[in-house]
Amino acid sequence: MQYTWNDIEQHIAACTQCPLGQTRNLPVMGRGSHEADIMLIAEAPGAQEDQQGIPFVGRSGEILDRLFRDCGLSREEVYITNILKCHPPGNRDPREEEKEACFPYLKYETFLLKPGIIVCLGRVAAQRIISPDFKITRQHGTWTYRRNCMLTATYHPSAILRDPAKYDEVKRDFQEVVSKRSDLMR
Ligand code: URA
Repeated sequence: MQYTWNDIEQHIAACTQCPLGQTRNLPVMGRGSHEADIMLIAEAPGAQEDQQGIPFVGRSGEILDRLFRDCGLSREEVYITNILKCHPPGNRDPREEEKEACFPYLKYETFLLKPGIIVCLGRVAAQRIISPDFKITRQHGTWTYRRNCMLTATYHPSAILRDPAKYDEVKRDFQEVVSKRSDLMR
């Protein structure tokens, strides 16, 4: 049987595969276009996302929206999701067992979307999706090709909140994503 987007959302809403199911307020399923070429994968919902059930509604989301504006992208034309669908208390790093428990949901999202481009936001996503030894500082903006999909990573927007000087680097990485998407459409 093939799951639909709705099935995945219902499974996530009822999920008790890890202890975060007990501490979260709302699960945060991916959002955006189900026809998108570009899939962004970040780490885990923050406190505001946990309150609203929507990815990137907090301060990191404001940075992401600014990047989108500056690069001619919009939330409506991409799909944004996280490695974890539930907020880890205190914004701690996701634990191995939480990432493994949540991974099937990301697999289903990817299977249904079939993106041409995956952009990992931050170390946690890059190490889970691209390579366990991925070094975001040295390797952001580099590209890997896997099963009809181009993969890259850049800093998480929260890294720009801590160090605004990173904004231009991330903008360049996003501009390259937009340029690769134009290549895809040729
Ligand atoms: N940070 C993330 O990694 N994901 C969100 O959805 C919000 C903040």
